[in-house]
Amino acid sequence: MNSFDIRTKIYFGDDALDRLIDIPYKKVMIITDPFIAESGMLRLITDRLAQAFIEFKVFSDVVPDPPLEKIELGVKALLECNPDAIIAVGGGSAIDSAKSIREFGSRAGGKHIALIAIPTTSGTGSEVTSFAVVTDTQNNIKYPLVSDSMLPTEAILDAELVKSVPASVTADTGMDVLTHAIEAYVSIKNNEFSAALAEKAIEICGTFLLRSYLDNNDTHARKKMHVASCLAGLAFNSASLGLNHGIAHALGARFHIPHGRANAIVLPHVIEFNSGINKHSKSKKEYPKCVEKYCNVAKLLGVNNFNEITTIRALVGWIQFMNKEMNIPLSVSQCGVDKHEYMNAVEGMAEKAIADSCTATNPRVPTKSDVCLILEHMYD
Ligand SMILES: NC(=O)c1ccc[n+]([C@@H]2O[C@H](COP(=O)([O-])OP(=O)(O)OC[C@H]3O[C@@H](n4cnc5c(N)ncnc54)[C@H](O)[C@@H]3O)[C@@H](O)[C@H]2O)c1
Ligand SMILES: [Fe+2]
Repeated sequence: MNSFDIRTKIYFGDDALDRLIDIPYKKVMIITDPFIAESGMLRLITDRLAQAFIEFKVFSDVVPDPPLEKIELGVKALLECNPDAIIAVGGGSAIDSAKSIREFGSRAGGKHIALIAIPTTSGTGSEVTSFAVVTDTQNNIKYPLVSDSMLPTEAILDAELVKSVPASVTADTGMDVLTHAIEAYVSIKNNEFSAALAEKAIEICGTFLLRSYLDNNDTHARKKMHVASCLAGLAFNSASLGLNHGIAHALGARFHIPHGRANAIVLPHVIEFNSGINKHSKSKKEYPKCVEKYCNVAKLLGVNNFNEITTIRALVGWIQFMNKEMNIPLSVSQCGVDKHEYMNAVEGMAEKAIADSCTATNPRVPTKSDVCLILEHMYD
């Protein structure tokens, strides 16, 4: 038996932030990062809260790839503040911090606290997922915590907030969206509902990701990517992810490569591995099942080709083209990571990638040596 639901109420479109004037809470804690707190962007939230006479406190101690120590600090602040709701404002790091702080804080305080997630990047889809990725800095591990109790109560998608995203973050987070959609689409847990959401997200990435990278003022493209990010989040919240995220988590935790960028570097390698296009070229019958799915992805991106193998080659080529056009490094060496240090870390990263909960739904079961090979190829 399978089931599908969307528990987070989504507000979107022009002036979606006006929802804040109507929220049924008296006291809220805003969780954000220092850049957003100081950028003036937060006024778009706090002005509306003030207009509705809602009391608020700001916790702005979020850092990228939230470490457990910061979550602990946030839980203390939450217990002191004792709000009815949390408003998370920021990228995946702020939203994941808020989810974890609420999870541990409401257990400690014995009180249900609502969570309103307001993404300021078009990337993680965290505003609608039951995932929160936290980092154990001492052991260089990124853990996806997964629990339905972490699902935000509401998500507000207002593209006004992503206008200021710099091009490099647009590129990284946009490739995160595409990776979520593709991994959900080929996951062993995929279903018709997740597939519909993933297909739409892939189609939007194909048309609007490069446009939003090239022109910050292309508001139409930015609005579309903001919705695609959420659609891809809904898709992988149902179908989960795969080896790509398993490797990206291990790589990001060890070498501090931004999450979306790590995914973008890994993506061509995992597509080649999953589809086994180098080994399964004898007859059509021998292709793994996901080959057909990757061919559909290629079609959605407009890179259809003569047969399955050439279509998947074209898909890999398209992803490399996108990475190049958006100045994303094509290899780990281009990220400035020392070769000796990297090669010494390969085995440890492979073990962590295999143990990562995202890897469990990959369409092809990888061995440790498969992952070591992928990681070695990714260097240059
Ligand atoms: N929970 C999930 O379902 C999920 C899914 C994928 C990734 N993640 C996690 O999310 C984190 C990455 O999130 P992210 O990619 O959104 O990046 P991020 O939240 O780390 O933000 C990246 C940078 O962009 C800046 N920024 C954010 N919004 C901005 C804006 N509007 N204008 C200018 N600058 C802005 C931030 O200050 C930060 O410096 C990672 O920890 C990753 O593992 C979570
Ligand atoms: Fe991701």
